[in-house]
Amino acid sequence: MLRRLHKDQPASFAFTPANYLWAQGQISKYPAGRQASAIIPLLWRAQEQEGWLTRPAIEHVANMLGLAYIRALEVATFYFMFQLQPVGSVAHIQICGTTSCMICGAEELIAVCKELIAPAAHAVSVDGKFSWEEVECLGACANAPAAQIGKDYYEDLTASKLRDLIGRFSNGEVPVPGPQNGRYAAEPLSGLTSLKDFDSGRKQYNASVQAAVDLRDTVKRIDGTEVPLTTPWISKPAAAKQIPASQVAKPAPVAAEVAPSGTQPLALSAPRGGQGDNLQKIEGIGPVLEKLLQGLGVFHFDQIAGWTDQNLAWVDQNLEGFKGRAKRDDWIGQSKKLASGWRPTNAAGDKPAE
Ligand code: FES
Repeated sequence: MLRRLHKDQPASFAFTPANYLWAQGQISKYPAGRQASAIIPLLWRAQEQEGWLTRPAIEHVANMLGLAYIRALEVATFYFMFQLQPVGSVAHIQICGTTSCMICGAEELIAVCKELIAPAAHAVSVDGKFSWEEVECLGACANAPAAQIGKDYYEDLTASKLRDLIGRFSNGEVPVPGPQNGRYAAEPLSGLTSLKDFDSGRKQYNASVQAAVDLRDTVKRIDGTEVPLTTPWISKPAAAKQIPASQVAKPAPVAAEVAPSGTQPLALSAPRGGQGDNLQKIEGIGPVLEKLLQGLGVFHFDQIAGWTDQNLAWVDQNLEGFKGRAKRDDWIGQSKKLASGWRPTNAAGDKPAE
């Protein structure tokens, strides 16, 4: 399926304050220079907040991670879990249409969606509350046919049960997820045939359903205030722990030639001739990093090409959040080539437009 950004996009996106803090916590999990690794959780949180992933949201996340927009777009358009078009304000319903579910009645479920929501997948219902799509195997084949509604699975469905669920969601209820035919989990419909003792000590719901009931975020938009931040290292120093001296690792030797604070490279107050180079031609530099570099007085490839190790150390310290990026992506080597007139080519071997 062709996955494109929706034609109608909002003007802007911003995380709620709590979601912003959460996002910073995710970014802090990765070592210096590897912040881009946080892209999927951040895109996912943006979708949890808004219901779908807008272009401003994708670009906002790219800016937070110092990525070129195209890199974030590549991720957002690749994974089907990201909704690139508006979804229903109450719920987006994903009907599994793969083998087990198809054999057990997925087509009837899809017919219900077409009748009650919209004739076409990814269209929002007239009242704006619902949207639907057919998806590949949800991994709940033993409870086919299954649908994912919001974050949770509703299993062992029939057309009439799905009708009932949609009606209840429409009325503001959040029906208990899991098997809808009385099964506890994925045991035989006729009851357990082994491990029968398990029956006596079990809780009301199976673990997945219990977690869904406890969290109550099945179809909720997430603003970040729902659960405490799970990144305590941001605000608290790590608890002191007594480690035997024999187990204490020796610190790695520091390169003697690089002073801890480095040396500021040549900075210009403005680009020469009023026009700087397009620093985004350097792989790894996106709009945010380009702006940061310009703020440090760096406008031209030949400036970067002339950096020393001490200059690199200084730049690292002054590109907060992007430490290690210049070395990892070899900005100096790339700039030397770009300063000599070389330009990257695309996959077809064509020289891209300036
Ligand atoms: S085939 Fe539907 S969940 Fe696997």
